[in-house]
Amino acid sequence: MNICLLGAGGFIGSHLAEWLLRQGDHHVVGFDLLDDKLKHVRGVANFEFFRGDIRKSAAEVQQMIREADVVVDLIAYVNPSLYVKMPLQVFQLNFTQNLKIAEWCVAEGRRLVQFSSCEVYGKTLAAIARNHLADPDDPQLALFDEDRTDFILGPLDKHRWIYASAKQLLERVLHAYGLENQLRYSIIRPFNFIGPRIDYLPSAEDENPRVFSHFMTALLTGAPMKLVNGGSSRRCYTYIDDGIECIGRVVLDHSGVCDRQVFNVGNPSNEVSIRDLAVRMRAIYDQYFRRSGDPLPDIVCVSAAEFYGHGYEDSDRRIPDIAKARTLLHWEPRFDIDETLYGSMRYYVEETRKASCTSESTPRQPSVELTDRRQLEVDQPTLDQLCP
Ligand code: NAD
Ligand code: UGA
Repeated sequence: MNICLLGAGGFIGSHLAEWLLRQGDHHVVGFDLLDDKLKHVRGVANFEFFRGDIRKSAAEVQQMIREADVVVDLIAYVNPSLYVKMPLQVFQLNFTQNLKIAEWCVAEGRRLVQFSSCEVYGKTLAAIARNHLADPDDPQLALFDEDRTDFILGPLDKHRWIYASAKQLLERVLHAYGLENQLRYSIIRPFNFIGPRIDYLPSAEDENPRVFSHFMTALLTGAPMKLVNGGSSRRCYTYIDDGIECIGRVVLDHSGVCDRQVFNVGNPSNEVSIRDLAVRMRAIYDQYFRRSGDPLPDIVCVSAAEFYGHGYEDSDRRIPDIAKARTLLHWEPRFDIDETLYGSMRYYVEETRKASCTSESTPRQPSVELTDRRQLEVDQPTLDQLCP
């Protein structure tokens, strides 16, 4: 297949490029503003990369789409602090520019795999009607089904929801193009993927990363790990290798079984509160990675207004119902929460220490080790050991 990966240089895009190139004779053409996460596939015969800005490269991207069998669109602003700081730019990139990609796919008759987000589900019923529910902690209230669950987003002045709204509207337009123009699309809703190369490389800085990267920086520097509003929100963390295994099957689907389908991609067994995430990451760091004399960070609480500014509101809880991916793709996530955290943390610890040992001014090529369960089972601490 000729596969066009828009946003190939990002966290998910770089892993997907690597996975697709490992599957055989597929030709992958990547496009992104950045390519530092693609060093491990640079030079591979079946891989081509074009650096560019989607806002300025219409003709080039249309040509790439024309030559592709399938187009995968990952381009977006993806960090909540950006939704609060620059909501208009988030809308313009995540909706307006992505809509153009979809329209080019319609015009060229190309299949589109569109990255959306679990954020489209918004908040749970428990978040808005807690006092009226017999058991507000019932996980069924947070179990999101692609084709049946309603979307609950906050009011206008909580502009964090512009990301979810932009993704949701794009999904609705794709659905309409499927109905009226026979567009062959598949929509992916990832649930909090983490792993090597999320957000920043150890050589780079990122003011706006997601929580895993904030906590990782704190562990590596000794600065406090900050819990926004006490860290009571919950997430299901999914190891990148699990996510890619599922998404890869969608991209390579020849049967048409994925056409006009939405897929939740996440690990429903890996739910933790953000407070629990901080405690587990600190315990894993202490047990496996801390060198004598290195400080262990404090865990402190901050308000959302202090951390993000005005306009932030949180998604309280979200658990993926993955029955569809199980049935249609025969996919099952394999990595539990501690393996997921350990594998993701190990990359950052090793890369940071390699970078600090080398005299080279440019970052060293990341050693892409795909964590494997057998190896981890040997080292894996029990939950009691981690969080006594
Ligand atoms: P990422 O930020 O690592 O990847 C996005 C890529 O888009 C980046 O490499 C960036 O350089 C590129 N990009 C941004 N603006 C561009 C522009 N103007 N022109 C060209 N390229 C541009 O994020 P990610 O985590 O890999 O997410 C990929 C997709 O998956 C996004 O659509 C995101 O909304 C969605 N998603 C991710 C997660 C997750 O758990 N990581 C969860 C839900 C949804
Ligand atoms: C993320 C982003 O919107 C997208 O990357 C993506 O669409 C989606 O969710 C996903 O990854 O599935 P969110 O999970 O809210 O949203 O992003 P984080 O920045 O990782 O925040 C997670 C939680 O940690 C939130 O409750 C946040 O308030 C909290 N947080 C964040 C802290 O307690 N401390 C921090 O230092 C940072």
